[in-house]
Amino acid sequence: MRAVDIIQKKKEGRVLFKEEISFLVKGFTHNDIPEYQMSAFLMACCFKPLNFQETLHLTHEMLHSGKTFDFSDIPFKKIDKHSTGGVGDKTSLILAPIVACYDVAIPMISGRGLGHTGGTVDKLESIPGFKMNLTFEEFQDNLKTLHFSMMGQTKDIAPADAKMYALRDVTATVECIPLIAASIMSKKLAEGIDGLVLDVKFGYGAFMQKLKDATELAKWLVKIGESSGKKTIALVTDMNQPLGNKIGNSLEIEETIEVLQGHGPKDLIDLSLTLSGTMLTLGGISRSVKEGVSLSQKAIHNGKALQKFKELLQRQGGDTRVIDSFSYLPSAKYTFEFLAPKAGFLAKINARNIGKGASVLGCGRETLTDAIDPSVGFILHKKVGAKVQKKDILLTIRYNDEKKLAASMVELIQAFEITPKKPSFKPLIQKVLGKL
Ligand code: URA
Repeated sequence: MRAVDIIQKKKEGRVLFKEEISFLVKGFTHNDIPEYQMSAFLMACCFKPLNFQETLHLTHEMLHSGKTFDFSDIPFKKIDKHSTGGVGDKTSLILAPIVACYDVAIPMISGRGLGHTGGTVDKLESIPGFKMNLTFEEFQDNLKTLHFSMMGQTKDIAPADAKMYALRDVTATVECIPLIAASIMSKKLAEGIDGLVLDVKFGYGAFMQKLKDATELAKWLVKIGESSGKKTIALVTDMNQPLGNKIGNSLEIEETIEVLQGHGPKDLIDLSLTLSGTMLTLGGISRSVKEGVSLSQKAIHNGKALQKFKELLQRQGGDTRVIDSFSYLPSAKYTFEFLAPKAGFLAKINARNIGKGASVLGCGRETLTDAIDPSVGFILHKKVGAKVQKKDILLTIRYNDEKKLAASMVELIQAFEITPKKPSFKPLIQKVLGKL
């Protein structure tokens, strides 16, 4: 086989054999196929998309390019959750300790933030001392005793995807549904799970701006999961405005703790509990999502979920004092209040502008090796639909650097839209796909 013939075949829109996909992925992973050929192949896939069978082969080839976990000795269902990424989305941090209160194990491997979206790894690392680079044994031990563990992506998991994703990022080949679906599912299937709940986001702050595209991606993800023998459910959810009220790494830990303490913003609570309720149902603990939601509420109200979160911090080196006082979290030196320029109703809080504004303030990074500032971020005081008066505080900015504040303001002034008429209400969860 020759890579050039496979590229030609895909360029002509012909269907590839499993062996051809395997040859390309293995060759690229072992540096036998150069980046320029893989780039050409990926670009061909953008114009002549892989069909479902090809995508399934690609997923499994990437999945088996590295280590796969086997937690069969843990006597519970292993269920994970994945989000396609958004702004202010700390649902993983909330739902994992909730679900872990029951007989379900959550082997959660998360990513860092990139671009305008945040990442679970950066949020957890804002807790002083918290360690995300666990050994496999530590990860497994947490799963057995605590029912959940959280670590960052390692080089051993789906290395073919890591190499291909890095190439896609610089060759304008990220936005292609079969490639995205294969990339996400190869990493999740390597975690040794029995079931997966996906939060596929659409809107300004999401990867997929349109509901139609997010729904299509959700369908592919569910089909790959189910064809791989895993129960898979996808929620298609609105990411036009940020989720919750706090955006920024340590601020999102604060809001996580607030929700686990039994308060916090309604949109964040609703989505987190629907996701945890779905996970509990996939894990065989509840008979319906509704019952799973009430079990989740119970775990918050009896304090067990917060206790689980505290135990996670203890085990992974984090300062547990943050639970009782946010003063132990990194905090920025200055605050600035962003005011409403006029009266009316908040019709839009563009999550992409908010995410970019947060990123340039120091919450995010341009490249994976940039340093982030865990202490900075935003607190939203109003959400879409709220009535505002001129000069009401829309947002508090926590910052350390005047230049970064100025760069952030460029984004923030584009983010808010105030109209005389109240905007129509749109449900956060638009669709649920897959069979329970
Ligand atoms: N997230 C991934 O893991 N892969 C993609 O291709 C896109 C988003």
